[in-house]
Amino acid sequence: MKSFQPKPWVAPQPVLIIGTYDANGNANAMNAAWGGQWDANEIVISMGSHATTENLDNCGDFTVAFATADTMVAADYVGIVSAKKEPNKMAKTGWTVSRAEHVNAPVFGNFPMTIECRIEQKLDVSETGYYIVAEIVNILVDERYIGEDGLPDIAKMNLISFDPVHHTYIKLGETIGNAFSVGKQLK
Ligand SMILES: Cc1cc2nc3c(=O)[nH]c(=O)nc-3n(C[C@H](O)[C@H](O)[C@H](O)COP(=O)(O)O)c2cc1C
Repeated sequence: MKSFQPKPWVAPQPVLIIGTYDANGNANAMNAAWGGQWDANEIVISMGSHATTENLDNCGDFTVAFATADTMVAADYVGIVSAKKEPNKMAKTGWTVSRAEHVNAPVFGNFPMTIECRIEQKLDVSETGYYIVAEIVNILVDERYIGEDGLPDIAKMNLISFDPVHHTYIKLGETIGNAFSVGKQLK
């Protein structure tokens, strides 16, 4: 085994697209890899100091979409360009925007699955940002990605993962086993 100094190398990481409205009702999006499930109905996101952060200070509602191979270029773009510097940021993505059903935040129609969220807690608030703990209020799934069992078919979504070591995006592959089940053969 080769040892490395501490690094943010938890892998695989998600590619989360955080959607918010600014004070004038304009949609914005940013990319976040440092986030995940917090509790059964809650998520956590490590939020730096961005235009998105200002939007969340005005209104604690937001959406989280999961980036795909098709949305990768624009998903990366919204992670390297700030609405603070590029007012035309969202137009460049080409994403369609509509208002979420249950929260005051934009839904980008180009993603198979989007979570509607509302901030419950901000932890360790400082000038550099905070950790968001947010309630999952609703989950929207494009009908094309609903499987025969009536549930979202994650394997069909072409989701991408962030590789924190080489800073690349990896397309997720095929389903190879049933969780809480395949291990039973070793019982
Ligand atoms: C792959 C990737 C992952 C990122 N992860 C995070 C993150 O977890 N938290 C964060 O605050 N910013 C993260 N960023 C940076 C923001 O997406 C970036 O600063 C963005 O331009 C902010 O946009 P805004 O100022 O319009 O809100 C990430 C960027 C990329 C490209």
